[in-house]
Amino acid sequence: MAAQPKPDFINGMHTDRYVLYTDLRERWPVYYDERMRAWIVSRFDDVMRVMRDYETYSSRAMGDLVRFPLISDDPPRHTQLRTLVNRAFTSTRLKSLEGDVRRLARQLIEAFEDSEVEIVERLTIPLPVVVISWLLGVAEEDREQFKRWSDAITGLLDQPTDEERMGTAGKMYQYFLKEVEKRREQPSDDLISAVLKAEERDMTLSDQEVVSFCLLLLVAGNETTTNLLGNLLGILSREPHLWTRLREDRSLLEDAIEEALRLESPVQFVFRKTTRDTQLGGVGIPADATVLTSFGSANRDESEFEEPDRFIIQRERSRHIAFGYGAHFCLGAPLARLESRLAMDSLLDRFDSIAPGSGDSVRLRSDLLYGYSELPLRFGTDSPH
Ligand code: HEM
Repeated sequence: MAAQPKPDFINGMHTDRYVLYTDLRERWPVYYDERMRAWIVSRFDDVMRVMRDYETYSSRAMGDLVRFPLISDDPPRHTQLRTLVNRAFTSTRLKSLEGDVRRLARQLIEAFEDSEVEIVERLTIPLPVVVISWLLGVAEEDREQFKRWSDAITGLLDQPTDEERMGTAGKMYQYFLKEVEKRREQPSDDLISAVLKAEERDMTLSDQEVVSFCLLLLVAGNETTTNLLGNLLGILSREPHLWTRLREDRSLLEDAIEEALRLESPVQFVFRKTTRDTQLGGVGIPADATVLTSFGSANRDESEFEEPDRFIIQRERSRHIAFGYGAHFCLGAPLARLESRLAMDSLLDRFDSIAPGSGDSVRLRSDLLYGYSELPLRFGTDSPH
């Protein structure tokens, strides 16, 4: 029998990634893609195996432009850092933000002038950026500049070159370095001060490491949350009866957010590097190889989820891995969930219905992330607000 031709990964991603993933799970669950120069892993169980085994699948090679502490560390260093930032990023800190996040969401929504809204620009980008700037204690007058930097770094501005991104990263780096120095002298109650304070107890971080951690929060936290909210609203606009259901029973909202994370995972892949020769799904992978685990695919694996391509608010058994799994499980998951819940709550309070807008929606041009760069929506309301 003739060997089956390997999948065309790059083309498949650009045509319909979910059709490609189904084919990969069926025929090529673990395979080497020459053009990507990486091993692609697409089944739920195999992805979990990779995420659990950090000794074989290391995070150390992650980060192309800037190497971020934490996300590109392995245990034991990772465990020390994570313990330290967990002390700063507490549920009490999040709880104290709740009222402000709710007010911000309301303000952004009340400012919609029309029933037709480009939601990415008007809500899903500004909300997480402002919340992170509160957390980090960025001064009010620096906020506009901060947002521009943050957009440029995560690539939301028109396709910046690597050079431009490096330039922006450099400016932000300098900015945060000054902020860290200030807080060493005069601590306040923000997250940076909390990280510095946690550090004093048992390990020390250089100012550079604290700065890189701030930048990591921006890179890891902003566009991902933007995409979660956009994806959920996109789904609801195509299935508007669900809007009515959520309005009638708000207790379903948390499940709807989880289901959107599963069905349209904002982070589609993460990278690992093999530290030794290994076997995965019966396939040999050499040491020092790049492994791309597909959360986007794992979260639609039919052997884990029934009717995986459907949005089913209340699933019997759902353990999606949109926030990763194991040691590196997303630090910001509670924050992303909080922001999404409060934003959705305000939208559901204000509007009776949702539908696609008249303009075209535009998907992000990214393989790693999944979301919208433009999403026009039409909201309906019976009574003027
Ligand atoms: C819907 C929104 C989000 C998604 C889908 C998401 C997804 C992820 C994923 C998949 C990982 C694991 C990476 C790996 O294993 O290599 C991760 C880690 C991380 N995320 Fe998130 N994230 C989101 C929001 C946030 C927010 C709001 C923040 C912070 C404000 C944040 C901060 C981090 C950090 C610091 C890590 C590294 C944790 C570690 O290495 O121990 N994320 N995230």
